[in-house]
Amino acid sequence: MHDVEANGASIPALGLGTWTLRDDACADLVAHALSLGYRHVDTASMYRNEEAVGAGLRAAGLPRDEVFVTTKVWWTDLAAADLRRSAEASLARLGLDAVDLLLIHWPNPQIPLEETIRALNRARRDGLARHIGVSNFPTALLKQAVALSEAPLAVNQVEHHPYLDQGKVRAACRAAGMALVGYCPLHRGGGLFDEPAVAQAAQAHGRTPAQVVLRWHVQQEGTVAIPRTTRKERLAENAAIFDFALSEAEMAAISALNGKGNRICDYDFSPQWDAA
Ligand SMILES: NC(=O)c1ccc[n+]([C@@H]2O[C@H](COP(=O)([O-])OP(=O)(O)OC[C@H]3O[C@@H](n4cnc5c(N)ncnc54)[C@H](OP(=O)(O)O)[C@@H]3O)[C@@H](O)[C@H]2O)c1
Repeated sequence: MHDVEANGASIPALGLGTWTLRDDACADLVAHALSLGYRHVDTASMYRNEEAVGAGLRAAGLPRDEVFVTTKVWWTDLAAADLRRSAEASLARLGLDAVDLLLIHWPNPQIPLEETIRALNRARRDGLARHIGVSNFPTALLKQAVALSEAPLAVNQVEHHPYLDQGKVRAACRAAGMALVGYCPLHRGGGLFDEPAVAQAAQAHGRTPAQVVLRWHVQQEGTVAIPRTTRKERLAENAAIFDFALSEAEMAAISALNGKGNRICDYDFSPQWDAA
């Protein structure tokens, strides 16, 4: 596994997504993932599983500085006092002194971005988070956030998979020294795996379609993927992507799937996305 360097943060290119994981099953899965070599776990106050993620981290017993832990502040909590309360509550639930990365989960046009970015920087300065960043920020908003932030932002976490080209966001991230962290990297495991470009590469390399899709992610510069699974056996499968490489033609054929499937996370509070 390699790390992606992003404005001073070294982020393992593959992380474990934890949305929908809960309670003992979540703690157990996190601990198992860490025992298999995962070193990056993604949670959020919204996922209501930070206690379980914390229990999994403790059960794994790794030195704190070996695991990269991300959490997020929900978009209704972006006023300065609310952000601070949210970050402190997340740390209490996780049982950590600091997270490695604290993200704004979604932008909120009702609250001045300047206030939110200032509060995010304050949380970092006060030691609640080693690095800060954003999620679901299209390029125009990202540019504003970058300009407003005293400490450089490390990450923009956005939906990313072969059906959704995030080239514009990635270019904006790279220009600012940031990483793109891709969520829904497997498109939730649907028809993407049956696409000929994916299935053929899987057959050629003796890998599963999920491994090919995850390899496609981490083979792109400055790009991280955080797949989720509820099944222990798939944890190992999803992590075994660093000992083979897709050819340029295979990468291009998979990238050409752009637009063939839908964007998954699109809500009434979503910002105006960049045009495809
Ligand atoms: N910032 C945001 O707004 C945001 C939004 C959405 C998600 N996220 C983060 O990103 C993470 C990942 O996104 P996601 O959970 O929505 O989607 P995902 O990782 O693309 O897909 C998860 C689905 O894929 C299946 N799967 C996993 N590994 C597989 C494999 N090897 N073969 C076949 N199927 C497989 C899982 O089923 P099984 O459980 O049965 O294996 C699960 O149903 C989340 O957990 C969360 O941490 C962030």
